[in-house]
Amino acid sequence: MSVPTAEPDSHGALLARLDERDGLHARLSQWWEAERRDLPWRRTRDPWLVLVSEVMLQQTQVDRVLPYFESFAERWPTPEQCAAAELADVLAVWQGLGYPRRARNLWRTATIISERHGGRVPADLEGLLALPGVGPYTARAVQAFAFGIDTGVVDTNVGCILARWTGRRLAPAEAQRIADELVPAGESWAWNQAMMDLGAQVCTKRDPSCGQCPAQQWCAWAGEVLGSKPSGQPDPADRTAGVSARQAPFEGSDRQARGRLLAALSDGQLPTEQAVAVMRLEHDASRAQRLVAELTAEGLISAAGDHLCLGAARQRAG
Ligand code: ADE
Repeated sequence: MSVPTAEPDSHGALLARLDERDGLHARLSQWWEAERRDLPWRRTRDPWLVLVSEVMLQQTQVDRVLPYFESFAERWPTPEQCAAAELADVLAVWQGLGYPRRARNLWRTATIISERHGGRVPADLEGLLALPGVGPYTARAVQAFAFGIDTGVVDTNVGCILARWTGRRLAPAEAQRIADELVPAGESWAWNQAMMDLGAQVCTKRDPSCGQCPAQQWCAWAGEVLGSKPSGQPDPADRTAGVSARQAPFEGSDRQARGRLLAALSDGQLPTEQAVAVMRLEHDASRAQRLVAELTAEGLISAAGDHLCLGAARQRAG
């Protein structure tokens, strides 16, 4: 077993240390057997439901996603059923989860899967990346969690883990390459889920618990926290590419005003003239107008006479 140094690793050095990969795999899987979270999207390998869960989890915490995932999966268990729904109904079920563009993209994706893929979620990266709202992270998550394909799933948390293991900032392509090389052949599902849990429960971005970490001895940075390497090296995860900047405050934001209007519309249509008050933007009517125009352009709301309603009637993918 080599002792990690305070020096940042080169890619090669990490992989050399991870020549003891079997040890790391064994240690992490032992930890995971004891600590794994039981989550509803882990009880299925259905590609559509895995895709739904991953889209919901893109910008939202696990706890908040749970009830939404259950409702969505019960109502639209197949892409065809989702594609046949009105967008307004999908948006209404999404109400409160946030970032409603994701719901519209998912509904458009359902139509594309039904019409162009015979109702089956594609398994290849190119096919997945061509779907609205599916980026490199979500595409690989579907590959690993639905199809068991050996690929690394790198979200923000996993990016932090890899930066700490290597001891330096990683560009997204490099993080992806390292993540891919670390996947134990044939065990992509369990390995990637374990990495997600490690990132959520132990190697957290803001408060890593290095003392409890099963991967301590493979980590270039752990000693900094544990005091065995007092070189003052900064946390490489602080600067990890792809780690999202702190979110702007919600209070008073466009997101908040948009959310208020969408919430009101999910109870039924609304006279257009009331939109300003619903958004609580009486002091800034031009901002209200802009937000209504943006929501309309995004296909999330539409005008019907002198009323606004959710979605757009008989809108289809395109
Ligand atoms: N975040 C994104 N995908 C996840 C998963 N499969 N399990 C837990 N958290 C996640």
